[in-house]
Amino acid sequence: MDKPIYVTQPSLAPLEEFNEYLQQIWTSGIMTHNGPLLQRLEKEVSEYEGVTDTICVANGTCAMQLAIRAMDLQGEIITTPFTFIATANSITWERCKPVFVDVDPETWNIDSETIEAAITDRTVAVLPVHVFSAPCDVVRIQEIVDQHGLKVIYDAAHAMCVKVNGKSIMSYGDVSCTSFHATKLFNTCEGGACFAGNLELAARIRRMRFFGFDEHKEIVDDGMNAKMTEVSAALGLANLKHLDEVRKHRREKYELYQSLLADRDYIAFQKFDPEEYNYSYMPVLFDTEERLFQTLGEMAAENIYPRRYFYPSLHDISLFEGTELPVATSVAARIACLPLYNDLPDSTIETICQMIKVGA
Ligand SMILES: Cc1ncc(COP(=O)(O)O)c(C=O)c1O
Repeated sequence: MDKPIYVTQPSLAPLEEFNEYLQQIWTSGIMTHNGPLLQRLEKEVSEYEGVTDTICVANGTCAMQLAIRAMDLQGEIITTPFTFIATANSITWERCKPVFVDVDPETWNIDSETIEAAITDRTVAVLPVHVFSAPCDVVRIQEIVDQHGLKVIYDAAHAMCVKVNGKSIMSYGDVSCTSFHATKLFNTCEGGACFAGNLELAARIRRMRFFGFDEHKEIVDDGMNAKMTEVSAALGLANLKHLDEVRKHRREKYELYQSLLADRDYIAFQKFDPEEYNYSYMPVLFDTEERLFQTLGEMAAENIYPRRYFYPSLHDISLFEGTELPVATSVAARIACLPLYNDLPDSTIETICQMIKVGA
């Protein structure tokens, strides 16, 4: 390839459409502090997702920190190790302890049947991740937390647009937190959001993201600065109009990969319901780490750069090591995400698939 092919590229609305919103900022002179574009974005995301309320924040990591703080959680939080480090950062930065349990070998999400054995008298919550947007077993997880009086916070960083049983995935758990980072299907450059069904909890998260001010500008709570700027909200408003199209294109490209790789018996795809997935990533699981290395090496020689996501499994890094979770260790060592983004030519997908040889 003449130009490098990276694992992803941001999905961006035409610049003129972003400029129209920027013009409104230049006219109003309001750049932040829950301004008119932020309020409009919250309304439009709520309508898009079919939820009652969206609380936009500066990024997905602080969305999870706010959720933990707003529920006054202190103690152990059971989570998955097959995720980006931010999931664990948000727990440790709130002075809680992540307790990792193993993942399902096919969905790569937290194995809900391992949760109960990890519950102790210090456990306060469960924080599963809908990895690559495949929904966790939300029904079983709710049963477990209800039975043990725990909270559940979902890391839904990857999962915009996903519905489970006809309902937005964001409506599950005490709080769902998403990321609108540049690499996500829907992006505001940096950004994120909390979704909380409980009105009091939602109001507290709103206050906490804005230094603890209430709607009368009185300081009534312990807060921080987790506001989303008007510039990010402007980008979000422009990008939101194209989100259905973006998801549709990604799905077509995902399915092209799937059909071209169907006869490679040494790679497997993530298990998910095709209607409950947003196709933002193209993860494949190799049978061995050696084969993954060999393929990555051959692609790099052609200027193509898939990426290992998420390696190593967090329970194996020096910060947290001490637990043996064989499925997570093995899966994390063998997964790579192939390039997937809207302008990726089908011919490049064909070239990539030819490099993953039949019966190699
Ligand atoms: C699973 C997961 N959780 C949390 C985050 C953190 O989101 P942000 O970068 O918006 O803080 C990311 C990625 O960025 C992620 O992939």
